[in-house]
Amino acid sequence: MYRDPVPSLEASSFQPSAAAAMRPLRVGMIGIGTVGAGTFRVLARNQALIAGRAGRGIEMVVVAARNLARAASVVGTDVALTNDPMLVATHPDVDVVVEVAGGTGPARAWVLAAIAAGKHVVTANKALLATHGNEIFAAARQHGVAVAYEGAVAVSIPIVKALREGLTANRIEWVAGIINGTTNFILSKMEGEGLGFAQALEQAQALGYAEADPTFDIEGVDAAHKITLLAANAFGMPVRFADAQVEGITRLQGLDVACAEQLGYRIKLLGVARRRDDQGVQGVELRVQPALVPATHLMAHVNGSMNGIMVKGDASGITMYYGAGAGSEQTASAVIADLVDVARLDGTSAAQQVPHLGFHAHAVDHNLAVLPRAAVLTRHYLRVPVHSAQQIEAVGAWLAAQHVPVLQVQLAHNKALPPGSGPQVLVLTDAVAQATVDLAVHALAAHPAVAGPVVTLRVEMLEG
Ligand SMILES: NC(=O)c1ccc[n+]([C@@H]2O[C@H](COP(=O)([O-])OP(=O)(O)OC[C@H]3O[C@@H](n4cnc5c(N)ncnc54)[C@H](OP(=O)(O)O)[C@@H]3O)[C@@H](O)[C@H]2O)c1
Repeated sequence: MYRDPVPSLEASSFQPSAAAAMRPLRVGMIGIGTVGAGTFRVLARNQALIAGRAGRGIEMVVVAARNLARAASVVGTDVALTNDPMLVATHPDVDVVVEVAGGTGPARAWVLAAIAAGKHVVTANKALLATHGNEIFAAARQHGVAVAYEGAVAVSIPIVKALREGLTANRIEWVAGIINGTTNFILSKMEGEGLGFAQALEQAQALGYAEADPTFDIEGVDAAHKITLLAANAFGMPVRFADAQVEGITRLQGLDVACAEQLGYRIKLLGVARRRDDQGVQGVELRVQPALVPATHLMAHVNGSMNGIMVKGDASGITMYYGAGAGSEQTASAVIADLVDVARLDGTSAAQQVPHLGFHAHAVDHNLAVLPRAAVLTRHYLRVPVHSAQQIEAVGAWLAAQHVPVLQVQLAHNKALPPGSGPQVLVLTDAVAQATVDLAVHALAAHPAVAGPVVTLRVEMLEG
């Protein structure tokens, strides 16, 4: 089904001439749900100022959706509607395709078709780029078009632009942040109101912060998609989502949130990409996990559904970015910024354009590998259930003997413990390889003092 009320959509009206720079940038959009509708609204509302910044108008000419009646209620009668995303991807009157439908299978085909047809692409689809980014960026290079994706990472926070442009002088040492609003909302509820994970998730769903199927969020997959894209931009490496270590918050216990608080920390789901060149280890840590952050740190105060990202550059030092991590117009803000960048591209050669992943193809380091979990080097928190409070010293001494650099050992206060819980020894370590911690914890399970499973979490100081 195709509704075309706009005479100018006829193929013959397409004139790629020198005058093209003067005419509006014509947009075809696939999907008009939360992000698509926001994009349409903001483009309409701020039309004049956006044109003033872009140097030309930006005009929506065709939109694909499944439910055309609902789409028509958003775009009115001046925009062509179709059920067929491929028609938008290859439409002769479209200069740039905005893909805001989501998913990885059909979306890959639409985006590749748009690129092959010589269209620029703007997408907010992190799953697509984390999974098929290398193929998509290679195709875009081959066809000399842009693929822009600010909305795919941290929505209202222009972190891709910051990495690719603002921090371009730096050797980036690490990028770390809270990049999933749903899980941050849940963790804030667990910490602030003492809720368990399941209760906090229910509240997030009731308030619209979590989807009916929240798996990608709570299992850390969404954050892993985003940190993978950030790592590629930070370090000049290909998109290596398959190698990322991903742990969500589903196994996190309220008891550990309370014990972390006793120690002066808060637990946040962090995406971390860190370049390593120490102790004979070379590569990149690429990981998502719930981690303790000092309660006095700015990152510990990124609460609710907000996002916060820090970047450490060798020249800039640490910079931090804060803003909404989801939302209709918040994402539209990023999508339209990408459209403005595309509008400004006319007449530039590929060599003059900002490369998709911040580095030109010849400078991308294909040998830069993601380090295995065992090599990850961080401080750790351990919670060791013991039979009696007197065994605290035995646990501390035993861990130190296993080459775990113990910094602090204390008993969990009664107020942190649920009714009926036995004593718990809390341990904070200095930086230590995951392999050492795993070995020690495995062996500790057989120690006569230990009364139950030992819990370990990483501790991120986010400094230096
Ligand atoms: N929501 C956010 O805050 C946010 C933030 C950052 C990034 N993103 C990303 O942006 C993308 C879109 O998210 P969203 O929240 O806007 O999703 P959404 O509300 O579910 O909207 C998706 C839209 O795509 C259309 N669509 C899906 N499959 C289609 C198909 N085969 N043919 C035609 N139309 C199709 C849907 O049409 P019907 O409505 O007619 O079914 C709907 O209009 C996703 O990749 C998401 O990860 C979202």
